[in-house]
Amino acid sequence: MNPVDLIAKKRAGQALSDEEIAWWIAAYTHAEVPDYQMAAMAMAICFQGLNARETSVWTTAMRDSGKPISFEGMAGFRIDKHSTGGVGDKISIPLAPIVAALGLQVPMISGRGLGLTGGTLDKLESIPGYRTDLSLDEFKRTVLTTGCSIIGQTGQLAPADRKLYALRDVTATVSSIPLIVASILSKKLSEGLDALVLDVKFGSGAFMSDFDQANDLAQALVSVSQLNGVACSALITDMNQPIGRCIGNALEIKESIEVLKGQGPADTWELTEALAVRMLRLSGEAKHDDEAREAIHAVVDSGRALARFSEMISAQGGDAQIIDDETRMPQAPRIEEVNAQCTGMLKRIDAQAVARAGHSVGVGRERADQAVDLAVGVEWLVEPGQELAPETPIARLHWRDKGRDEALDYLRAALIMDGEVQPRTGRIRAQV
Ligand code: URA
Repeated sequence: MNPVDLIAKKRAGQALSDEEIAWWIAAYTHAEVPDYQMAAMAMAICFQGLNARETSVWTTAMRDSGKPISFEGMAGFRIDKHSTGGVGDKISIPLAPIVAALGLQVPMISGRGLGLTGGTLDKLESIPGYRTDLSLDEFKRTVLTTGCSIIGQTGQLAPADRKLYALRDVTATVSSIPLIVASILSKKLSEGLDALVLDVKFGSGAFMSDFDQANDLAQALVSVSQLNGVACSALITDMNQPIGRCIGNALEIKESIEVLKGQGPADTWELTEALAVRMLRLSGEAKHDDEAREAIHAVVDSGRALARFSEMISAQGGDAQIIDDETRMPQAPRIEEVNAQCTGMLKRIDAQAVARAGHSVGVGRERADQAVDLAVGVEWLVEPGQELAPETPIARLHWRDKGRDEALDYLRAALIMDGEVQPRTGRIRAQV
């Protein structure tokens, strides 16, 4: 096939055949189609789109660019969760052990943060010794014995996505919905799953700012997942305010432990519970939502979910004693209370501004090869509806050697004092 003809065909708005897509992705994976031709194709897709069939075939071809994991012949129902990412989004960390303690298996391959905050892997790496680089055999063994394992992407899983995502990042082609769907699902469909639950976020702290875009993405993700034989359901959730009180890698592990002890912030629990309910429903473990909720509360109240988290940490080489002794995790050398310097009722906390505060002190990274600071971050102290005075402490800033003044400005800018009071719970806006 001729790459130039295929690019011209897509540029003219015509659909590519299954064979053309399979050839294109295989040729790109083996560097027979160079980056500049893939960049042109990605731009043509940004303008002309891919139809549902093309998106599904493109996704399958990307999945098959590597060697998907197989659990064939092994007992158990395997399910994962994916979030499009947000500020303070640590939900995978309590969620995986909760549903594992309820009998499901969670083979979760997760990512590092790029941009303002750390990703799930960065957070887990703040647990001393925790290995995110298990071999796929070790990963499978951990899933089968512990019920859950969270590791990073390996070269064996969907390598076409690794190349294409990096290329999209530098060619302004990240925002195309079919390309996002194929990118997310080529990795998730490589995990040998029976089902998948998605948290598609919108708002100032999300990758997509408005609800309609998030809804389009959720619909496309669910339908392509189902076309590939993986049961799927999505929640569309509001990401205008940060999730929970903590933003920062080790700080979010501490907050995840609070959730597993039944003591986490209400909004963090709400999201964890809602996603766990979807997982139990998709697996058939619960016949209705109330039954699922009861089981989730029981497994947290009895300590079984927390015990499962401890087992996962140990199985991955980490220090499980952090659960009872948080001083074993990285600690920032400086902790400072930040006051409001304004008067009035707090109406909303802006997620983007809080993320920028965290970023200033080193929570996230600009480039994939940079290290994050595991210890630094923000603990948020006030809630919408609360009256503030100039000296009211609004946050505790954990910092080391950079970004303090900038972070203070961002934290104060996160205080939105006009409009209606917007509670941080009630974030779930739709289900697909
Ligand atoms: N996350 C991904 O994994 N891929 C995208 O294209 C966008 C978000």
